[in-house]
Formats: sequence, C-alpha cells, structure tokens
Amino acid sequence: MKKLINKIDECKNRDELEVLRIAVLGKKGELAKAFAEMKNLSGDEKRERAKELNDFKEIFSAKFEKKEVEISEAELDEKMFREKIDISLISPKNELGGYHPVVETMNRIIEYFQKLNFAIEEGNMIEDDWHNFEALNLPKSHPARDMQDTFYFNDGKLLRTHTSPVQIRTMTREKPPIRMIAPGTVFRRDFDLTHTPMFHQVEGLVVENGDIVSFAHLKYILEDFLKYMFGDIKVRFRPSFFPFTEPSAEADISCLFCGGDGCRVCSHTGWLEVLGCGMVDQNVFKAVGYENVSGYAFGLGVERFAMLIHRVPDLRSMFEGDLRLLEQFKN
Ligand code: PHE
Repeated sequence: MKKLINKIDECKNRDELEVLRIAVLGKKGELAKAFAEMKNLSGDEKRERAKELNDFKEIFSAKFEKKEVEISEAELDEKMFREKIDISLISPKNELGGYHPVVETMNRIIEYFQKLNFAIEEGNMIEDDWHNFEALNLPKSHPARDMQDTFYFNDGKLLRTHTSPVQIRTMTREKPPIRMIAPGTVFRRDFDLTHTPMFHQVEGLVVENGDIVSFAHLKYILEDFLKYMFGDIKVRFRPSFFPFTEPSAEADISCLFCGGDGCRVCSHTGWLEVLGCGMVDQNVFKAVGYENVSGYAFGLGVERFAMLIHRVPDLRSMFEGDLRLLEQFKN
C-alpha cells in the first residue's frame, strides 16, 4: 500500500491523477479490496488492520489533494504562458477614432469662453416650470411659450426646452459678478428636417453690479466669438424678441456658402442666423432677487454651428451615427 502513496508524485497531469484516484479510492480500488479482505481476520487483527487502512487513506488523501493543487497551478501557469498577448506587436489595423462633430464643436465653443474666464455651469435636464419659464419672464399664459413645444412629466416637471434655466439656477445660487456659460442637452417636441427632439445649446450670461454692462459688450464679445468659430465672416445684429432679454437681438453671419451674394442655403439673403441674445430683462433679475445690476445673455444651437462649420446639409445626419459621415471627422 505504501507504494501507492509514492505513485502520486509520478502523476504528471490531472488525467493521470484521476486514474490513480480510481485505482486506489474507487469502488473497486485497492482500498476497497483491502477492506473486503479483512473479513477473514480475527477481532484484534481486524481492528489493527482497519486502523492501518484508515491511516493510509488519510495520508493518501492529504498528499493527493496537495498534488492536485500543484498540478492545477502548473496548468494555469502554462495556460497563461500559452495565451500571453504581446501588446508591443504592431497591428496592421491601426485606426484612430475621432470626436463626433457636435462634441468637437461644443469643445471649441467652450474653449473660447474658458480662455475669457467664463465658469462652466450644468444645471438639470429635468426642470420645473419656474426655472424653465416663469423666472425667465414667461408667465403661464404667455404666448411666447408656444415657441417651445415641451415634454412634460405627470408631476408637472419637464425636460428643459433651452439652457436658459441655468441662468436662473446660477443667479439664485451666486451673487454678481457672474460670467458663465452653460453647455447642455435640451429637448423639444419637434421633428423635421431642421429640428430634432433632442439637441444641444450653449448659454452665456454675464452680470455685473451697477449699470456697467452694455449692449456694446455683448456685441463685441459675440462678434469676436463668431469670427473665432467661423473665420473670416461679417456679423450683424438684428432686432428680435425673447421674453428674458430686452432689448433682444439675433446675430447673423455672412453666408458661408456664397460669401454673402445670396444662395439657396441663406434663402438669397446673404446671411445665416446663428444665435439669440440680448440684455437680461429686469423682470428676470427681479425673479432671482437681484437689484441694481446689469447683464447680457445669449444662447446658441451647437448642431447648427457644427452643420455650418462642416457644411452638413441635414440636421438628422448628426444623430444617425452613420460611419460614412463620422469617419470624415477623424483627427
Ligand atoms: N433660450 C433661447 C432659445 O432657446 C436663446 C437665448 C438665450 C436668447 C439667451 C437670448 C438669450 O431660443
């Protein structure tokens, strides 16, 4: 029987070990046989032999288990070695990804304002009526609410229709001076060639104590910003209306496609509308409890900027994830 114990060391793998286990501990194995032969022995001899066999079983099993662990560790080492991946190998497929044009454009916008020390605010995508409308001088019955078709939740909350509520959140939290932009996702119930239910805006807000912020500041910074984004273009400001700014304006750039001569893209006007802006309405300041302050605000659609910069004709292609389009933006 002792010899059987030494056989454990001779096993080189799991299979050999299993064969040995069956030969020794199996139903018809050596141990079972030895126990069966005991029936011919007398009482004392029987007890002695039984103890001997039980001791053997214990020693054999202990050694067997140790060997089993050894073998599995060796097998694992061997498997790891075999499956080792050489990460320094050069792959023939060596393609880099790239930013989505919307992200790239967003980053470029943020970069401009960050250099001018604007803080970046985020706000919430789920807003309440007060932040999204009321505090922005859009009372419940105001017809201008029609400009923004809204997704409502059952509890009266809504998906923000613009980034302007971030103005309110920032002003109720902080005291002037404020200089911030709010890049973010916004939602409207709108879907056609030039509208998607989800898109991105960047809001801007500057507020100072006293009467020092003027429309000239707004014009200067937006003109500089639009030249940074679009290159050598002309900028004009056109009177417009937003409930939260007074006076309000829309900024146009000279058409990137025809240089201002007039074409289909600019509806033969020579100009492309790119953002809304104005001096913050005093009613907005009142809503957030500000007195004797002045400021300007602006808001723009990032997809529109991306489309104009990259001359993409259909807004929906910004959201389709078509690699034939996206691959053109790698680098
Ligand atoms: N919130 C306006 C919109 O979504 C844009 C805007 C922002 C206009 C700030 C003026 C000032 O259309």
